[in-house]
Amino acid sequence: MALWSGRFEQSTDALVQAYSESISYDRRLYAYDIQGSIAHARMLGRQGIIPQPEADKIIAGLQQVKLEIEQGKFVFKTELEDIHMNIEARLTEIIGEAGARLHTGRSRNDQIATDERLYLRDECEQLAELLQNLQGALLALAQRHPDVIMPGFTHLQHAQVVLFAHHLLAYVEMFERDRERLQDARQRINRLPLGVGAIAGSTLPLDRHAVAQELGFDELLYNSMDAVADRDCLAEMLACLAIIAMHISRFAEDIIVWYSQEFAFIEIGDAFTTGSSLMPQKKNPDVAELARGKTGRVYGHLLALLTTLKGLPLSYNRDLQEDKEGLFDAIDTVKHSLAVFTAMLASVKPRRERMLEAASDSFLMATDLAEWLVRQGLPFREAHHQVGRFVAACLARGQQLHEASLEQMQECIPLAKPECLQIWNPQSSVEARDLPGGTAPAQVAKRMAYWQEKLNTP
Ligand code: ARG
Repeated sequence: MALWSGRFEQSTDALVQAYSESISYDRRLYAYDIQGSIAHARMLGRQGIIPQPEADKIIAGLQQVKLEIEQGKFVFKTELEDIHMNIEARLTEIIGEAGARLHTGRSRNDQIATDERLYLRDECEQLAELLQNLQGALLALAQRHPDVIMPGFTHLQHAQVVLFAHHLLAYVEMFERDRERLQDARQRINRLPLGVGAIAGSTLPLDRHAVAQELGFDELLYNSMDAVADRDCLAEMLACLAIIAMHISRFAEDIIVWYSQEFAFIEIGDAFTTGSSLMPQKKNPDVAELARGKTGRVYGHLLALLTTLKGLPLSYNRDLQEDKEGLFDAIDTVKHSLAVFTAMLASVKPRRERMLEAASDSFLMATDLAEWLVRQGLPFREAHHQVGRFVAACLARGQQLHEASLEQMQECIPLAKPECLQIWNPQSSVEARDLPGGTAPAQVAKRMAYWQEKLNTP
């Protein structure tokens, strides 16, 4: 019998039961549900809303239920619909009558909203830790190879010379902002819905502040209708996850490109690549491809929730039950991607010679020549134009820039001096970009020291 069956004469159709149950997936919220119920029961007892001995019985009973679930002895029942009713029914089986007092002044509407916030709060912390581990792995890779030089790309075309470490640290910055976003979202997550009942509040003297304090919430939600109806903190979490997934996916794309035979910039350990069932020579970067692929599904969950929410009149509607599976999947997926990327990075090795060879393309240093001219007093636009003509002339002769003589250079760049022939050195090219945010080894070393300190302080 459903716990709400008082006014019903027929039991629920089996198809409806199967259609409306959520226990198959919301059972993972059991610990949060019990944590919330214990705080609620303790408050009911303290406020004299239920007799203290009954509150004590409820708390002990809930602890037993928790143990049963953890020991795999608990029997989840579809006919009891969701995690809330499964736990409450078992509680009443264990402690009898007293169990029937737990739901005083509470509804499943404020209960599920509370469970979800407790769950999200935990997940924020776990995600932040996984992000930090990934940042740590990126930093360690950068620190192992602080002087490896590579071409930097824009439009996937050779742009300017950069340090491999600088490229890696770009992702450390992105994942740092992801952590900040989670921290920020957590402030809005950490507000208590419980105690507003189904929609309007309660006639009973509930002490919501005490419950908030016991559960570690910073604040209450102050509008009962908002508290049961809104899921924007879930949408915000999904948005954070979508951005994390996007960052992982961009990095995955770099890895895939670097690992291709055309680039051949990196090695990846055997344990993090897979073979082909047909082509014996293959060693593929499947981890990176999967992470890139899974990003689509995380975006999908964000859009699914926003779509579910957009047409709902206040306050609670059963549509809201659809908020969970996508959220769980998005969180699990992103956590998995973060963990596997962190592990994979330990096996990544740059192919320093190959990268240096690619970075020695003198076209990568055309800007260096233009900036040398600026230092001689030429307006940048004019310098850009002269070097552009020099590039075109070299291309027409089938030459690299470093193959041109001073005379050939001077045909396009009248101010050119013998020292201009020294420009075509990738090492000095990176060294010259010595300002905050630049790729000079000195700057990158400073930033590595900054991250070393920051990532190792809790
Ligand atoms: N399983 C429900 C959900 O996730 C719990 C709240 C049910 N409330 C209700 N009025 N039927 O949304």
